Amino acid sequence: MPRSLKYALAVIAVLALLPLALVAKARVATSPRPRVHLIFDMDNQPKFKAQSANPLFADGRAMRLPVPGTVARGTLVPQEVATGRKGVQWLEVIPVPVDRQLLLRGQERYNIFCAPCHGYSGYGDGAVQRRAERLEEGTWTPVASFHTETARARPVGYIFNAITNGVRTMPPYGAQIPVEDRWAIVAYVKALQRSQWATLADVPKEVRPQLEVRMREHDGTR
Ligand code: HEC
Repeated sequence: MPRSLKYALAVIAVLALLPLALVAKARVATSPRPRVHLIFDMDNQPKFKAQSANPLFADGRAMRLPVPGTVARGTLVPQEVATGRKGVQWLEVIPVPVDRQLLLRGQERYNIFCAPCHGYSGYGDGAVQRRAERLEEGTWTPVASFHTETARARPVGYIFNAITNGVRTMPPYGAQIPVEDRWAIVAYVKALQRSQWATLADVPKEVRPQLEVRMREHDGTR
């Protein structure tokens, strides 16, 4: 092979590495300039960002108000039902009729949306929590149990609001769970709480003697 060809091949081989080197650099380096953008598609287009000015309108605002007379879609619910509070006070009583159907719906929705973290019984021991414990990353805020004194004392409106807007590190679920279902879940959380602190008085009279026997047996085995 002629020497000049060898040199040419060597140069080409080195040059071929250049794009790779540039890509590798681009992946780690930062630059104040916008990145090279060969095909624009619709990535850049004229628009007004939220809260910016728009000279097209007389009031100069880019964000427009709904046209007067606009009607909301869906069901309109009273403010207390939608927020879980009356003025600044949390509601103490669930503002929709609570029946077996609502509780069953609440159980179903709870098991879907809350149990992964809070656990099926509400002790804050769902699969997500158990996995976080195993990872031991040290950055995880433990999931709250619903059976502490504090949690039991929470008004229903507080729980409703926790679902709607999140609470401390817990994310909000208002966008995924409709208002009616949120109250169903609140009712179920209350039922869970009651189930873990039940007394003999919560049981129908006719089955109490039977239960008392069982409780004594249980005490005997402890
Ligand atoms: C992704 C995990 C996760 C899911 C899903 C989740 N939670 Fe939570 N929840 C948490 C964590 C974590 C906390 C504690 C937050 C903190 O203390 O910073 C918490 C706290 C709460 C509290 C506050 C307790 C208190 O007394 O302050 C309530 C009420 C609550 N959750 C209800 C619910 C309900 C109802 C659902 C289902 C709609 C739900 N959560 C779904 C993680 C979750």
